[in-house]
Amino acid sequence: MIGNDLETARENLPSHVAIIMDGNGRWAEKRGLLRYFGHDAGMKAMTEIVRYASDMGIGYLSVYAFSTENWKRSEEEVSGIFKLLLIYVDKELDELHRNNCKVNILGDTTGMSRIVLKALEKVREKTKGNTGMIFNICLGYGGRAELARAARSLAGKVADGTIAPGEIDEDAITDALYTGGMPDPDLLIRPGGEKRLSNFMLWQCAYTEFVFCETLWPDFTKEDFDKAITEYEARKRRFGGRK
Ligand code: FPP
Repeated sequence: MIGNDLETARENLPSHVAIIMDGNGRWAEKRGLLRYFGHDAGMKAMTEIVRYASDMGIGYLSVYAFSTENWKRSEEEVSGIFKLLLIYVDKELDELHRNNCKVNILGDTTGMSRIVLKALEKVREKTKGNTGMIFNICLGYGGRAELARAARSLAGKVADGTIAPGEIDEDAITDALYTGGMPDPDLLIRPGGEKRLSNFMLWQCAYTEFVFCETLWPDFTKEDFDKAITEYEARKRRFGGRK
């Protein structure tokens, strides 16, 4: 199996890979298609990469599927993305479960329809006991909103006397994030040509290695994923320390 061969061949596989899946709209526009079809192609690319990353032995894969800012898009585009999410769950849940993947939904689900919430609950419930790759689908996610939520949660604990203000340290904040208990991303991949973080995992990416590429997300392949991993493996990480 390709994935397992790769796993044994690679020396320094990232434990946590995060992906900003960008470029769906431009992919569609270049073909004279509605943006929906770009997201549809993006979903197919995501399906391939999830499978591949899991086979490869990646511990955590986080994808930025819908940001807090994406609510500002047209109602037609937003409902198209959620329709695709429902299709994805319907088609892929059994395979994700067979592959032992545990799916988490990270973000604020306020404003999502009951049918979407039900599907998300079904995915979480079915895969919660799985011990393979943790697959984080970031939905209604924003890094600043996540930090504000963590601050509220810690303030609540101070108010009810569970912790003292002086006990609020970096670990306490880390634990109060959606990603509490998970390692920070080692590698963040952003296809689509833009070189910014776009409010994704702001706290968690303090020492993350970034790989940017021009390929639009729907065209992103296993080979592109391999290339990003290889580039990551060649990086020297010092975490602010000396060489
Ligand atoms: C960014 O591209 C992508 C999104 C806002 C949506 C990502 C959605 C998917 C990959 C498919 C659906 C999958 C799930 C799990 C919901 P963009 O639209 O900003 O592209 P552009 O920069 O070219 O306009």
